[in-house]
Formats: sequence, C-alpha cells, structure tokens
Amino acid sequence: MLSGASIYSSNWLACSDTYGSDPQELPDGAPRCLVRLRLGAARCFGGSGTTFNANAGGIETGTFAKLILPDGKEASLPILHPSTGTDKFVNISTLHKQVGHYTYDPGFTCTASCASSITFIDGDEGILTYRGYPVDQLARKSCFLETSYLLLYGELPSPSELDDFKSEVKKHMLLKKDLLDFFAHFPTGAHPMAQMTSVVAGLSAFYPVNLDVKNEDQHKEAAVRLIGKMPMITSMVYRNNLGLPVSYPHAELDYTGNFLRMMFENPMYPGGMNRIYSDEVYTVVQKAMDVFFILHADHEQNASTSTVRIAGSSQANPYACVSAGVASLWGPAHGGANEAVIDMLAQIGKKENVAEFVRKVKNKEDGVRLMGFGHRVYKNYDPRAKYFRELVQDVLKVMDVKDPSLEVAMELERIALTDDYFVQRKLYPNVDFYTGIMLRALGIPTNMFTCLFALSRTTGWISQWAEMVEEKGFRISRPRQIFIGAPERTYPGL
Ligand SMILES: CC(C)(COP(=O)(O)OP(=O)(O)OC[C@H]1O[C@@H](n2cnc3c(N)ncnc32)[C@H](O)[C@@H]1OP(=O)(O)O)[C@@H](O)C(=O)NCCC(=O)NCCS
Repeated sequence: MLSGASIYSSNWLACSDTYGSDPQELPDGAPRCLVRLRLGAARCFGGSGTTFNANAGGIETGTFAKLILPDGKEASLPILHPSTGTDKFVNISTLHKQVGHYTYDPGFTCTASCASSITFIDGDEGILTYRGYPVDQLARKSCFLETSYLLLYGELPSPSELDDFKSEVKKHMLLKKDLLDFFAHFPTGAHPMAQMTSVVAGLSAFYPVNLDVKNEDQHKEAAVRLIGKMPMITSMVYRNNLGLPVSYPHAELDYTGNFLRMMFENPMYPGGMNRIYSDEVYTVVQKAMDVFFILHADHEQNASTSTVRIAGSSQANPYACVSAGVASLWGPAHGGANEAVIDMLAQIGKKENVAEFVRKVKNKEDGVRLMGFGHRVYKNYDPRAKYFRELVQDVLKVMDVKDPSLEVAMELERIALTDDYFVQRKLYPNVDFYTGIMLRALGIPTNMFTCLFALSRTTGWISQWAEMVEEKGFRISRPRQIFIGAPERTYPGL
C-alpha cells in the first residue's frame, strides 16, 4: 500500500490507501498515487473561491421588513439580496421566536431553502450560469468533466488539474463484480430508474470508507466515485434489460466516449458500436451527448436537488442522498418529462394533428398539457433548449434518421410560440422538449431517458450536497405543517 502523503506538497494529501483494497477500480498500469485531495481554503471543495460567503445566507441589505400581526405583535425581518440578480428575500428564520408564528408556502414556491454559490438562474431573462459561467458557453466550449470540476470546486481547472481530475474519474468507472451481480437479480423488464435508484444506494454498502459525512476528506472521493460509476450503472441498466453482456470502460476513451461504448458496444463486432458506425457520426453524437450531460449537470434547488439536500441534512451518506435524488427525478413532472414529450409526439402522430391537439391543451380537456413546455422558474426560452435544438438536428442529419416526431415538434413549437394562450402564460419550450428526440434517434428506450438525466445531474447533486454539509453549523431540515386532520379523540378499543 502506498502512502502518497509524503510525495505531495503540504496542501495535497494522497489518499491512495483507500484504494488499496479496491483493485477493480484501477485500470491496468494506472499509478495508485494519483488520487489526491486538495486541502486549503482558497479553492476548497464546495467553496466558491470568492469572498461571497454562501453560508452567511445571503447578503444583508441593512433594510428590514416589518410584519404586524392581528394581535398587534410586530416582527422585524432583515431583507437579504443575492450576489447576482435583483431578487430580494425576507429572512423569516427568527419569525417564530419574535412573534410565535410560522409561514405557509406549499411547494416552497416563494421560499429560498438555502444560500448557494453553485448555480444561478434568472428565469425571466432565460439566464443559467454555473459558478458564473453561462451554460451555453460551457456547452459550446467546455466538456462535461471540466464542467463537473467547475461545479465541484468553484473554479475552472488548469490543464493539469483537468488531466488529474479526468484520471481520477476514469479510475472509478468500473463497477465491482459484486455490484454488477445486483443487476442479475432485478426481474426482467424492471424499470430502469428502479434499478438505478437501488444500485446507487447500494454503493453505500461497497464504500463504507466514504460514509463518515463529518470527514471532509471523503467528500471529494465520494463525488469522483459517483461521477465515475454512473455511466457503467446506466449502461448496465440498459444492457440488462436487453439481455446484452457487460461492456467495460476502456482507459483510452474519454468519459462520454466510454459511456457511448458501454451503451452501444455490440458483442458481434468487438470494438464497434451498434448504431454509431462511422467516425463522422461518432464525432457529432459524442459532442451532443457531452452537451446533454453539461446542460443537465445542475439546476439549483429543483425537486431532486432539494431532496438530496433534505436527505443530507440528517447527515445521511452521499450515496444514499444521491439515490434519493434519483428517486425524486423519476417523476414525470421532473426528470420524466422528456419521456412524456416522446409519448405526446407519438400520440399526435403527424403535423396535421397538431392544431387539434393544441386546441385540447388550451381547453384543458382531460388535463392535457403540452409536455416539454413551461417551467416553474423559466418564464422565457429555456437557455438549455436553444443550443440543444440545433444539436438534435445535427444528430438526426448525420445519423440519417427521418423522425416524424421532429416535424410534429417543430410545428408544436411554431404554434405555441405565437399563440396567445402560451405567450400570455410565458410557456416556452424547455430542454426536455428536444432531448427526447435525440435520445430516441440514438436508440435509447424512452424509459431510460431519466437515467441519462440522473447520470448528468449526479455532479450537481453531489456538489450541492457537499456545499451543504461543509457549511458551518448546518442543521437538519424540518419543515412545519398546518394540521387539518381530526382533533384528538379517544380510541374506542377493539
Ligand atoms: C413545469 C410545470 C410543472 C410548471 O408548472 P407551474 O409553474 O406550476 O405552472 P402552473 O401549473 O401554475 O401553470 C400556470 C398556467 O399555465 C398553464 N400551463 C403550464 N404549463 C402548461 C403546459 N405545459 N401546457 C399547457 N398549459 C400549461 C396552466 O394550465 C396554468 O394555466 P391557468 O393560469 O389558465 O390556470 C408545467 O409547466 C408543466 O406541467 N409542464 C409540462 C411538463 C414539463 O415539461 N415538465 C418539465 C419541466 S423541466
């Protein structure tokens, strides 16, 4: 077992010893001392590296809101503002102490549950940034692992830091044999998200070394391990349901290349892939897939991320928390939306049926909604959708896929962007409207779509989790309720 600590300068700690018992995680010939935890305040894991302290819970404006209750009691509540944007927040954390009242905000639509320095969204303007960088710039110029590093550390990596990060992630791409055996025991046809939720939670059993949440040295290792293992977990879910043999990651391929290979490797053509035949197709598909991962990497405090934070607030381990995020993402109002888009497009069938479908949506007949349209936060064009719209067309062209769904989608988009019903309600296409079409062109079954979303979002979940658990004095989340049930009554006996 190597003790790497001595070979690095004082702000680097080698943690190769934690890998000594886990040879399956190391590709042949990979040096064991490459995995390092960087210590030090300037760019600590989960920190922004700026002077803005997310842990302070926003920036004091020096102004206060006064709340006067019917009984005459008054509460003075500080107004906070963020480092970017014009939103203002009333800090109600002392409200109960001051006047004995709670607040009521179902669905947290008007409540900030935390202060975070990771992702910024201005839904009215259609802006999305990761650590300050607009997501469309990252999508066009960065790669998924560079973006993951940015989300985790708060700054872009130097070339050598990126190389180190890529090697660390690569070393964690393999799944242990015992973990692979999980897949053999799911019933045939088990929902991919059911398999993924279980296997991600199962990582807790395989890596007890990462379970001590108070040990910050373990946070980065758990993060890299999760990011590394998600492609093979996703491919196993896919291959398991198709009855295909295991496909392993290769040291010479990058992250997205490994994902594509593990998904589409065909045992009849060693080294080849099912549907991505030529170099030209591979280049376009690899880029589009990488962009898909970048665009889904984080989205501030959505339902699944809030789930990860709430689970983590009890000091549950990172694998269990990310598994809770996967479960939350499963629902059709969240990660399942691109699957719902494909179902809707298939139901509409052809361009000529679009107008009738839109009429039903507008009349709210049978609760029909335009899937892939509207967003709780964006009241403008989803910034992730714009570039992806272009990429989908590139992928279909290079793969020579004539998908009638695309024609239906374009007609729906055309009508919805000009129709008063949608314009007045600020309902624009969201990213899910286009991603489903690309995933289908690649031959990925619709019930696998959310798994790909989960793969990408793992980076965001673990970054948000780390930001929270590394916050000084973080507390367990415990919302209140307004009880509307029966008053206390006496149990009558059997
Ligand atoms: C995402 C979503 C849940 C956000 O909902 P929300 O912010 O709570 O918006 P509301 O449900 O309050 O809707 C506001 C109004 O717009 C309408 N609306 C919202 N989304 C709509 C849609 N996709 N199609 C048709 N009408 C829609 C509502 O019927 C409501 O109309 P009303 O004012 O006449 O009652 C919602 O837009 C939706 O269901 N979209 C489709 C699913 C989807 O694509 N989800 C993925 C999000 S990334």
